Amino acid sequence: MNIIKVNNASQGAARAYDIFAETLTKGARVFGLATGSTPVPLYQRLVESPLDFSQATAINLDEYLGLSGNDPQSYHFFMAQHLFNHKAFKQTFIPDGKNPDRQAATSQYDRIIAENPIDLQLLGLGRNGHIGFNEPGTAFDSKTHIVDLTQSTIDANARFFDHEVDVPTQAISMGIGSVMSAKHILLMAFGAEKADAVAQMISGPITEKLPASVLQQHPNVTVIIDDAAAAKL
Ligand code: GLP
Repeated sequence: MNIIKVNNASQGAARAYDIFAETLTKGARVFGLATGSTPVPLYQRLVESPLDFSQATAINLDEYLGLSGNDPQSYHFFMAQHLFNHKAFKQTFIPDGKNPDRQAATSQYDRIIAENPIDLQLLGLGRNGHIGFNEPGTAFDSKTHIVDLTQSTIDANARFFDHEVDVPTQAISMGIGSVMSAKHILLMAFGAEKADAVAQMISGPITEKLPASVLQQHPNVTVIIDDAAAAKL
């Protein structure tokens, strides 16, 4: 793993921006994207930049089950608000959390990923070490699947909702196997609440109990962390 330490999230976004710019300039055309608060400053930089993504494909990691794209808490809404409404992409994909045929929704997403091999996959990090919505215990070779969210994740994401009972309890997520098939993985983690997961991801055992530890097995991973997230290394 190539570990880049920065003083704060803003510096981290600047480093991540440089990696996106270089990857795009070198001809990459498929970007795996993430939600959560971590990538927001990066998306802002991309929006304000002259970078041209009009020939690029974006494939998002995950979506809550049951929320329509118009719901402000949905990841469809999030991506439109922070990136896609402001920066043109050739095509954008986000798992369909509204399709009652879950089998069709997951296999359709696997087809999309197979047809568009991901050049650069952006990841955040859950406090329990999840990536995308791949919670502890998810198989390392998993494809797109339906997830029962853990209480830890529901608690962490409740801050985006008016009431905790409004937080969906299930999601549809790209699998760990698909994340691992990306050519380059860029994970960002900022803040003290990520310090335990960061330490285990980088120097703990490789175990499905800590999904991000799988990244130790990938040949091309860049991790950007701030001082607070690096505190337990
Ligand atoms: C959610 C998302 C993850 C994200 C995580 C961390 O669970 N599904 O992709 O990495 O939140 O969010 P934050 O960046 O807000 O800490």
